[in-house]
Amino acid sequence: MAARPKLLITRQVFDEVIDHLSPHFDIIANQADDEWTPAELAQRAADRDALFVVASDRVDRALIDACPSLKIIATGSVGYNHIDLKACHERGITVSNTPDVLTEATADMAWALLMATARRICESEHWLRAGHWQRWAFDQFLGADVHGATLGILGMGRIGSAVARRARGFDMKILYSNRSRAANEAELGAHFVGKDELLEQADHVVLVLPYSAQTHHTIGARELALMKPTATLINIARGGIVDDAALVQALRAGRIGGAGLDVYENEPALDAGLLDVPNVVLTPHIGSATRSSRIGMAILAARNLVAFASGAALPTPVATG
Ligand code: DGY
Repeated sequence: MAARPKLLITRQVFDEVIDHLSPHFDIIANQADDEWTPAELAQRAADRDALFVVASDRVDRALIDACPSLKIIATGSVGYNHIDLKACHERGITVSNTPDVLTEATADMAWALLMATARRICESEHWLRAGHWQRWAFDQFLGADVHGATLGILGMGRIGSAVARRARGFDMKILYSNRSRAANEAELGAHFVGKDELLEQADHVVLVLPYSAQTHHTIGARELALMKPTATLINIARGGIVDDAALVQALRAGRIGGAGLDVYENEPALDAGLLDVPNVVLTPHIGSATRSSRIGMAILAARNLVAFASGAALPTPVATG
């Protein structure tokens, strides 16, 4: 019997994922969820044929070069900006990701942040917990309307569309900006506009763009200045799409109403200013964090690996070329 390919799983995964992979691979799994330095990761990956990584693993050319037998990288994430696709292409390494299984959960999270930010849920809860609530007042924690407001979605892919579908229940006008027109815009009741027009008109802006060199700092000081002073900005996409330092300045100066952020430029480190401004809701990259969604992601990554090991077509390959 031929030796099974060698797989490294960089982070703790659900037991059923290990069960799914075990018949096909000789596995080293980080079930203790130890934190590895890049050098430790490279050392463990060096003799592996396959890697199961997550979005916080940096799979750069140095790591790829350190793994001469590597043939497939399966990431348990829809985003793959952490993988050097050019280096993979040059080496003929197959890459897969996990689209679809997290779409609805992530769209729900965009809405959770939008509602919490617009209606100042976290800010008022902290105030209440601190014992400040003595009496009701007409002007206490006045927020922004969500129903009937204008929603601007930057990036109209699967998750952007799922965000838009939910907006219809709130009778919102939906604007979107995207590299190309979305085939489903009529079905979503969404209007295609330029980025600046969207920023000027939207009451709530949701970012759902993939991160790349082209989308780096899509929202910076100039864009924040275009937004309404009452507008909210929601980022469930990737850190680096927003210039966090510029956002802190804008929040401090009241140039926008508030922000709801699940992702950060240097996460898990945060721009310290974000912790000081009250009108921001902060969550630790949990956009897809429902049980079914996270299990779905891990199982899909495993299915890609098994397909590769069996010589079958991958369910969700990433184009590297
Ligand atoms: C993704 O799937 O890209 C999410 O950000 C989780 O890492």
